[in-house]
Amino acid sequence: MTLKNRTALIIGGGAGLGRAIALAYARAGAKLAVADLTAVTAQETLALAGVTDGLALAMNIAKPAEIRTGIKAVTDRFGSLDIMVNCAAICLVDPLLEVTPERFDQVFDVNARGAFFCMTAAAEVMLPKKFGRIITISTPATKLAVANFATYGASKAAVDSFTRSCAVAWAPHGITVNSIVPGRMTGGMVDALDRDLAKLTGQDLAALAESRTKSLPMQRRVDPAEVANAAIWLASDGAAYVTAERFNFTGGMELG
Ligand SMILES: NC(=O)c1ccc[n+]([C@@H]2O[C@H](COP(=O)([O-])OP(=O)(O)OC[C@H]3O[C@@H](n4cnc5c(N)ncnc54)[C@H](O)[C@@H]3O)[C@@H](O)[C@H]2O)c1
Repeated sequence: MTLKNRTALIIGGGAGLGRAIALAYARAGAKLAVADLTAVTAQETLALAGVTDGLALAMNIAKPAEIRTGIKAVTDRFGSLDIMVNCAAICLVDPLLEVTPERFDQVFDVNARGAFFCMTAAAEVMLPKKFGRIITISTPATKLAVANFATYGASKAAVDSFTRSCAVAWAPHGITVNSIVPGRMTGGMVDALDRDLAKLTGQDLAALAESRTKSLPMQRRVDPAEVANAAIWLASDGAAYVTAERFNFTGGMELG
């Protein structure tokens, strides 16, 4: 599968799934821009991908002006933006009664509001070209009860809704909008989540991590590099008729 002659921007590409998708897109021949909170980790991703003509950007998606500036930098550099993947998100562990308005806003500003403005800023440059692939990242937590990180689940439920609304609005203009739902991945956010949950519940970290792995239908966590396969396919020409989809990569974790 090739992404040759396509320009892709991976937001949150300095670590985890975003980095894995950037590496996969580089292998597929895409011209690559990587954004993260600091350009340092974005640049590391480009280096790992062996990309010497890519663009590394500092972007905080909680600040819509930074999203616009970043996307302008991509079009200035490459002349187009064909594919935008937003992996940036945060998860704060707070028991329900301890969620403060500040912590609530912190999660929603990145995961919901930030995701929305990434989608609209990308679409603004894609609409005149009549082509675009927008990929958002959801989570099984939108459908499960996650009392200790309810703000995360709810903020990502907003992403599900935005994905559907944008997909239908932009379908006549050659832009597809889909979300990928990774299962519990190795590394990154889930390692931090395990640590926070162990601290909160007083459980042994290794035992908690083991039980959160063995309770999965596949009895293993998924490597971000595996999930990146879905991002390649959704960005490819073969997926032109796929939109408004919640692409499940959960190994059976999410049923229904
Ligand atoms: N890890 C999992 O098992 C899992 C499961 C389901 C869904 N997800 C989703 O997959 C995506 C990637 O998860 P991950 O485990 O790779 O996470 P990660 O924490 O390893 O990587 C997230 C990246 O986003 C960046 N980021 C955070 N806030 C940002 C901001 N305001 N602006 C720009 N960049 C920002 C971080 O610096 C980091 O590089 C997230 O959207 C997450 O919600 C993860």
